[in-house]
Amino acid sequence: MKQIALDGPAGAGKSTIARRLAQELQFVYIDTGAMYRTLALACIRKGISSDEEEKVCEAARKARIDIRYLDGMQHMFLDEEDVSAQIRTEEVSKAASDTSKYPEVRERLVALQQELAQRYNVVMDGRDIGTVVLPDADLKIFLTASVEVRATRRYKEYLEKGMEADYEAIKKEIAERDYNDSHRAHSPLRKAEDAVELDTSDLGIDEVTEKILQLYRDRTEGNGQEA
Ligand code: DC
Repeated sequence: MKQIALDGPAGAGKSTIARRLAQELQFVYIDTGAMYRTLALACIRKGISSDEEEKVCEAARKARIDIRYLDGMQHMFLDEEDVSAQIRTEEVSKAASDTSKYPEVRERLVALQQELAQRYNVVMDGRDIGTVVLPDADLKIFLTASVEVRATRRYKEYLEKGMEADYEAIKKEIAERDYNDSHRAHSPLRKAEDAVELDTSDLGIDEVTEKILQLYRDRTEGNGQEA
């Protein structure tokens, strides 16, 4: 099966780009952050705090987390309820970043991600896809953008959805999550040695998608410039 791994910090454009790539290549887009978010929501609903490792891991063992595809879009189900919208709050973002540091949580979700990659051609995005989940991916991309650009993107997204937004608060939350995700002991956010780094601060979605498609074609069709 074919695999494209897309890693990077919050707001670098991973999901938008990954969705576009999957559309172009007719691959399945797998949003791994959504899985960590669904578990975080399960913990919040059970009143489990992110620092209660034992309880978080127990919730990870017991929660029925399913991924289903409806009209080509990934939907997350928690105990048979579609929670795709409920996992997008700031509270869930923070809890997902905090609970994803536990090795047992990661083992479970990584196993699920690898299983999907055995069944489908995938574009998978997250923090540890190129380093841990799909170490032999056909192409690994590490997307970055300055914290200001990422915060501005989030801010606009909220306004477009008619939600209230505070730019400074968003910027602070993104900076905290960057620190948290890249400083944990297990599978921290890090560029794989063989990943191509792309700074999207000054690039549009079409440009980034095109660049990655070209890289992918060069790799897989062997029509690159290299000898
Ligand atoms: O990509 P996202 O913002 O939806 O991810 C939410 C959190 O989940 C992120 O802050 C860290 C965690 N995560 C992770 O640890 N590993 C992944 N592969 C994806 C997300």
